[in-house]
Amino acid sequence: GGPFGGCIGQLPHLASNYAAICALSLCDNVGNCWDKINVAAIYRWLLSLKQEDGSFKTCLKVGETDTRGVFCALSVASMLGILTEELCEGVEDFLVSCQSYEGGFGACAHEDEAHGGYSFCAIASLCILGGLDNIDLSKLALWCSQRQYNAEKGFCGRSNKLVDGCYSFWVGSTAAILEWHGVGECINKEALKQYILYCCQNSKRPGLRDKPGTNPDFYHTNYVLLGLAIAENACFISNKINDHDSPFLISPDHKDFRSASGLLPINPIYGLPVENLYRFNQHFT
Ligand code: FPP
Ligand code: ZN
Repeated sequence: GGPFGGCIGQLPHLASNYAAICALSLCDNVGNCWDKINVAAIYRWLLSLKQEDGSFKTCLKVGETDTRGVFCALSVASMLGILTEELCEGVEDFLVSCQSYEGGFGACAHEDEAHGGYSFCAIASLCILGGLDNIDLSKLALWCSQRQYNAEKGFCGRSNKLVDGCYSFWVGSTAAILEWHGVGECINKEALKQYILYCCQNSKRPGLRDKPGTNPDFYHTNYVLLGLAIAENACFISNKINDHDSPFLISPDHKDFRSASGLLPINPIYGLPVENLYRFNQHFT
């Protein structure tokens, strides 16, 4: 009927819509696939998931509500050009209430444990909404810098937990969005790059991993690579035109840019190459 399920016969879910729209954005409209997306039906479905507190339920029948769902809903809506006032009403207040005493964000409101994954979802969402100035930015920047350990140089996801390569994106991208917003540099990108190159590669198997002793998998390959792109590629930051710009507006001026490891410039909100994202969004607006 329009929104995407995880597989044939499955109910639509916010995570599978996020994954489907991101994947389609990389398809360059092959076979006019972009015109086959039922944007109106997706919009109606997103509205039906909206909760009174400003969050989104992940699935109509059964589903949790937290910052992950908000990010999936807002990224899909913004990519498809359907980010209306009606859809966004109350969302910013929900996100702001998820910042914990530590400075990072939890899954839901009022002192849930701050975590890199949920912090990314909240910050990327607030950036899409233009609401970053309504949170404690310096506390968040300090929290991001505290995620990077002196010994390993990689990030952990929360206080007193272990370093894991995937937080190179969840925390690295949060820090990159803050830097874009003018907060300053709160992580050591060169040190992060060393963790990724020395600890997340495996001489026996392709792909990237959480840490030495673990095996590579698709999830870590994606998010460690994105973290490396963030660590090596600051070009989107210099692409800012004025203080109110959102990274969403990054144009692919630097499309020939390649990072030291040969990676394309990526948009820190969406984790997609800036040129693909830009072309996809232009198609729908
Ligand atoms: C803790 O796992 C991790 C979580 C509870 C969820 C983290 C959230 C994300 C990665 C964001 C997902 C984003 C989208 C867009 C759906 P753990 O206890 O195994 O790990 P830890 O010890 O590192 O905290
Ligand atoms: Zn991980």
